[in-house]
Amino acid sequence: MIMESKEYFNEVAAQWDSMREGFFSESIREKAYDIAKVEKAKLAADIGAGTGFVTEGLLHRGLSVIAVDSSNEMLEQMKKKYNGSNMIDYRQGKSEKLPIDSDTVDYAMANMYLHHVLDPFVAIKEMVRILKIGGKLVITDLDEHNFEFLRTEHHDRWMGFKRENVNKWFTEAGLKSVIVDCAGGNCSSISNRGCVKANISIFVAYGEK
Ligand SMILES: C[S@@+](CC[C@H](N)C(=O)[O-])C[C@H]1O[C@@H](n2cnc3c(N)ncnc32)[C@H](O)[C@@H]1O
Repeated sequence: MIMESKEYFNEVAAQWDSMREGFFSESIREKAYDIAKVEKAKLAADIGAGTGFVTEGLLHRGLSVIAVDSSNEMLEQMKKKYNGSNMIDYRQGKSEKLPIDSDTVDYAMANMYLHHVLDPFVAIKEMVRILKIGGKLVITDLDEHNFEFLRTEHHDRWMGFKRENVNKWFTEAGLKSVIVDCAGGNCSSISNRGCVKANISIFVAYGEK
């Protein structure tokens, strides 16, 4: 039987930090913070937070974070890591209905999340919903690729995205000043079953509500 994405992420949660280090570097989240010009003491949502890769840098910059993920195990790993931090609010929830009130956060950020959701446009509209007016959405994810093993081995739903589609979704979701550009890094992964190696460029998508 094919494992559901949630089961997969529950299973790999304890190893996610070391897996993630092999896939992409911290420069990706730095690009996200820079493009949004994040300011301390603001409230950010880290959507598809995993074990807190994006959250970590936001905390260092003095923001509070609502971390949302569908995988309880991922959130448990994150709680162990940031034991006792009163700057993080952990919420289990899904892309179609984020467990955050409308118009409440200054930034919504999602790294390597969009290619896992059922409907990327619905997921984007949900992230726009939770932003305050003037709030900023930043998504970092994979450009379109043809590495099928990422679907079978890593439970990716989408083989990356065309930047023009992401730009269109951001605009149609009501965002202004939309930019979709190179994030300045790649995602690397080697197939378990042989010698196929993926090296996929990463985009950063930005827009303001
Ligand atoms: C590839 S991981 C990225 C984690 C983290 N953002 C990072 O950069 O290390 C994708 C995360 O999105 C979560 N996820 C996948 N589909 C989701 C959905 N439909 N709703 C909420 N979270 C989801 C997974 O549980 C997983 O933690």
